[in-house]
Parts: sequence; C-alpha cells; structure tokens
Amino acid sequence: MPDLIPDSEISEIEFNPLSESFSQDPYAVYAELRKLDQPFYYEDVDCWLLSRFEDVEKAALNPVFVRSLAAFMSPQQVAEERRKVNWHDMPNHSKYVQFSLLDSDGDVHFRLRKIVFGMFTGRYVERYRAMVQRYVDQLLNALLEEREIDFVEDLASHVPGHIIGNVLGVPDEDCPQLRVWSENVVQFFDAGRTDDDKQLAEQATTEFYEYLLELISQRSKNPKDDLVSTLIEAKKSGDIDETELISTCMLILMAGHGSTIDVMGSGMNALLQHPDQMAQLRQDQGLIKTAVQEMFRFESPLPFFHRHAAEDVEVLGQHYPKGTKFGLLYGSANRDSERFLDADRFDISRNPNRHIAFGRGAHLCLGNHLSRLDMEIVFLALLDKTKSINPVKCQRSARY
Ligand code: HEM
Repeated sequence: MPDLIPDSEISEIEFNPLSESFSQDPYAVYAELRKLDQPFYYEDVDCWLLSRFEDVEKAALNPVFVRSLAAFMSPQQVAEERRKVNWHDMPNHSKYVQFSLLDSDGDVHFRLRKIVFGMFTGRYVERYRAMVQRYVDQLLNALLEEREIDFVEDLASHVPGHIIGNVLGVPDEDCPQLRVWSENVVQFFDAGRTDDDKQLAEQATTEFYEYLLELISQRSKNPKDDLVSTLIEAKKSGDIDETELISTCMLILMAGHGSTIDVMGSGMNALLQHPDQMAQLRQDQGLIKTAVQEMFRFESPLPFFHRHAAEDVEVLGQHYPKGTKFGLLYGSANRDSERFLDADRFDISRNPNRHIAFGRGAHLCLGNHLSRLDMEIVFLALLDKTKSINPVKCQRSARY
C-alpha cells in the first residue's frame, strides 16, 4: 500500500458504484474523480482508480500493468487470493473461466490471442454481415406486427448470442441456451454475489464445458469454417492445449454477450432521449458508423477493468509497490472533456471519436468489429422498417 493519506478533497467524494444514485448517473461522480491529481483509493476492493482519459490510456498501454496475478505471484499465492474473494471450490470455473486469454499476460497472452486474432479483424467479420442481417430482419419482421415492443428483451437480447454462436460454430437451434450459460457465469462477477450465484456459475460452466466437448468431437471429425475448428487445428499443431481451447471458447461468449445487449439498450435510450439525433440518423443513414461509435463512448457498457502493477511503479508522481491494484475507469475516460469536446453531449456525427470503450493496448477488445457490425445492422434495420420510434417506458440500463 503506498503511503498516501487521502486529503480532505478526496475523502469528500462518495464513490459507491452499487448505489442507486450512481446507477442512475455515474457521470457526476466520475467528473469529481477526474478533478483529483492522484488516483482515488476505493477501499471496498482495495483498488486505486484512474479516471482521466490520459491516465487510463497510459495504464492500458503500459506492459507493467498486468491483468493476471500469476504475472507476479506464485500459484499458492494466487490460490490464496482466489480464496479471499470466494473464487475457490469451483473446479470448472477455476479452470475454464478464471483462466483465459483476457486474464493472461506476456508470452502466453500473445500466443493465445494470435490464434484467434485473424477471425476478428474488420475485414474478416464482414463475412458475417449477411447472416446478421438475415437474423435481425427475421426477428424484426415478426416483432413489427406488434405496435409495442420491448427493445432489449424482444430484440437486442437475442442478437449477440446468435451471432457469437455462429462464430463459434454452434448450430442455430442451440444459440438461445448460450444466453443462459453466459448470464449465469457473468452474474457471478457482480460485486454483490452470493453462494447461490457461485453454484449457478459453476453449474453453467460445467454444462457449457460438456456441450463444448461434444461440439469439439463433432468438429474434429468434420471441420467447418468456424472458431472451434480453428482452435482444434491450433491444438493439433501444439499451439494450444485442451484447457486453453475450452477457456477461449468460453471467453468469446462471455466477453461479448451481455456487453453488446447493454450497449444496444443504452444506444437506443440515447437516441430516444435526443430526438434531434434520432431524426438526423433517420435522415442520413450514412451516419451509422459515427452514431455507433458515439453510443459506445457515451455509455461505455464495460466501464471498469482492473490491472495489477507487476513491479513498483510511479503514477501521477506517487510511488506504488508491486502488486498494487488499479481500476481503469473506461466509462469516465470517455467523458473527459480534456479529450472530447463537449464530452457530455451525445453527438452521432462526432468525428474523430477515438473512445476507449474497447480498451487499448495488448488487451484491446477482440470483438470490437463484430459488436459494431451487430449494432449497425440492428439500428439501420429498425430505422428502415419503422416510420418513427417512440418510448413507451424508458429505463436506463444498470451500470457499475
Ligand atoms: C459491447 C461490446 C463490447 C465491449 C464494450 C467490449 C469491451 C472490451 C474491453 C474494454 C476489453 C479489454 C479489457 C481490459 O482492458 O482489460 C475487452 C476484451 C476482450 N473482448 Fe470485448 N467487448 C465487447 C464485445 C466483445 C465481443 C462481441 C467479443 C467476442 C465475440 C469480445 C471479446 C473480447 C475478448 C476475447 C477480449 C480479451 C482480449 C485480450 O485480452 O487480448 N468482446 N472487451
């Protein structure tokens, strides 16, 4: 722990991400954090928060800031840390979820990322456009017979599971189950998790694991043009082992499922709250790419990620020892007026818009092109198939 004594200015800030008021509007708190000249200590999770764009970006780009405890701890120490936060006694979760390419660093991370990177480039994901369009049209055509729909529940929540399922190689009829598994595992990451959540997460991991074993066995006999087949090839050539193969499939599902649903919901909410922007997009659909970028910046669906200092570091003039945990507030960085003109304004034509909702550096989101593709198709299809869209009851999505 660095020898910093929070000054009076810092202690006045109430940072309670689980509170109702924060969930309604985190941006006032983020603005207060950005005024500080040093990281804010968030005691509940023993973590130093970085909130300004420049500081968050610097940390994400700096290889000294790592994701995994294993980068600077022995396996025994890692096990002890897991126990402290109740991430133990879950054999399949420990093996296939707690370890992943996202939670590795250095050579292991580079090796794992390289195997799948080619299947997520902007050019590569274009091959999914027709499939996504077909699926969204089919959903919408059925929905638009109703005058009133629940945008998140009836439409947005179905899209990412179907698309990621297709990328992995899961048959269409099994894709709805992916949502259940993904939600049950991801729920366990919430701060207020219970032992029931833990049991549910382990059970979902086990069921998904067993499902993947069957899919892997089928694709081993009959390879197709999908991610599971690519990973099987990598295993045959010795680039990846069985645990890494399974954990990579699980990560691809977990990382991109809920977050894409959330940003579709908050993107729709932003358009409804800013009718001039909705009208502008309806009039000039060529703005869809900048509009989608702005949706990610305005309400970053994954606003917080952590790093550990793999060695002693200096941050904003203060010394922090090896092992210190830092929080990268991507959601705050994206509202930093030092970086974005009129940062709290939702502007679908904002350009340039180099937001940090997908992170930066070694762990830059692999699915960023895919989720943008989903968003573009959903919003364009909705505009094409409707004369106007009006809110019946508008709820803001939950955030932390
Ligand atoms: C709303 C959509 C999404 C958002 C906001 C998002 C955000 C992020 C962020 C911020 C990171 C970096 C984490 C860090 O800095 O520690 C990340 C990593 C990652 N994302 Fe996404 N993501 C989204 C969708 C997806 C999708 C659709 C997929 C896959 C189909 C995906 C796969 C991944 C993977 C594999 C990583 C780990 C990359 C690595 O560690 O090298 N994401 N994502």
